[in-house]
Amino acid sequence: MKIGVPTEIKKDEYRVALTPAGTRELVDAGHEVYVQKGAGEGSAIIDDAYVAQGATILPDADAVFGEAQMIVKVKEPQPVEVARLEPRHTLFTYLHLAADAELTQGLAKSGATCIAYETVEDSKGRLPLLAPMSEVAGKIATQAGAFMLEKPLGGRGILLGGVPGVAAANVMVIGGGVVGMNAAFIALGMEASVSVYDRNIDRLRELDIAFGGRADTLFASTLSIEEMLPEVDLVIGAVLVHGAKAPHVITREQLSLMKRQAVLVDVSIDQGGCFETSRPTTHTDPTYEVDGITHYCVANMPGAVPITSTYALTNATMPYVVHLANVGVHKAVAQNAGLKLGVNVAAGEVTYAPVADAVGMQSVDVDKALSAVPA
Ligand SMILES: NC(=O)c1ccc[n+]([C@@H]2O[C@H](COP(=O)([O-])OP(=O)(O)OC[C@H]3O[C@@H](n4cnc5c(N)ncnc54)[C@H](O)[C@@H]3O)[C@@H](O)[C@H]2O)c1
Repeated sequence: MKIGVPTEIKKDEYRVALTPAGTRELVDAGHEVYVQKGAGEGSAIIDDAYVAQGATILPDADAVFGEAQMIVKVKEPQPVEVARLEPRHTLFTYLHLAADAELTQGLAKSGATCIAYETVEDSKGRLPLLAPMSEVAGKIATQAGAFMLEKPLGGRGILLGGVPGVAAANVMVIGGGVVGMNAAFIALGMEASVSVYDRNIDRLRELDIAFGGRADTLFASTLSIEEMLPEVDLVIGAVLVHGAKAPHVITREQLSLMKRQAVLVDVSIDQGGCFETSRPTTHTDPTYEVDGITHYCVANMPGAVPITSTYALTNATMPYVVHLANVGVHKAVAQNAGLKLGVNVAAGEVTYAPVADAVGMQSVDVDKALSAVPA
């Protein structure tokens, strides 16, 4: 198969979807790899490192999309990239379509088979291709939140860990999955006072053991959240309902319960945001204020640390890329039920029900849609 790796063009995005190690695996398996000139630069990977493992460097994105049968990317395609997709393409990348009706319609119109990293599941129902970036984003969430609490940046002016004789800041994490647990561990490492809220009691049990009593775990009811809001300095929103638009766990009205210049970090912003007042921001301009509360809502947080994130992501995606290349999309999804759950759009149809529901479209059975895709 011919695999294409374009340069990421989303603002402040420096990751790349394939490393020289991945190139080697694909080339050794008999495939052809086409990398756009400079695609690895943001992650400190030079073109020659790809060439040394058997890749061909192409001058621009048009050439990569023109040559390749499968496009591997990091972030959701931007409009200029959607315009390059054709029915013969398999696209393998993050899509987060529940929050983006326009992109969903664009991908459907392209006719391409679009597999979303974030809805691929493993045999235990976990999200193996979201997890590595959630680990990164969780860790960044606390460090960004701590920074934004500094007075010159518009924050309350409180140090997360306090000092002897002065109390630590209160950090509230809503959603105790991969992001939430990592955010909580960094907050604990910074010696903040930490409480984690989730609706899954089994998950709260696991967290309670993992934290060894150093953080509180609480059931996330509207009332329990509301009771905590007047106390908190930093809230990290990290809820996820697989593939669906994020539920709002803090409303605009509830902001009035919080201390002025407290900070909200909405990691779930890529699924539409879990605070009513959230809207996507960028690393260049990461925050804005609503009713005296600082909002940090960067939709590609791991993009800021590409040297960590590119390798963490590709360690997880590479086996799937190799499998798709070896047997093609039809056999790959037939052999791996978790990968099949990643197919969000195929042959002009939306094939992932929570996305279809969120964007007001009709979903079509994935096998039926794929039967219209030429092998
Ligand atoms: N902004 C970014 O750069 C970035 C990067 C990585 C991940 N994310 C996003 O972060 C979010 C969390 O990802 P994750 O990997 O931790 O997911 P996860 O599935 O591991 O965890 C989500 C948790 O939310 C809990 N939850 C669901 N609904 C809830 C509710 N109403 N109240 C409280 N808890 C609730 C679930 O029980 C689960 O424990 C996702 O939307 C993901 O796409 C964003």
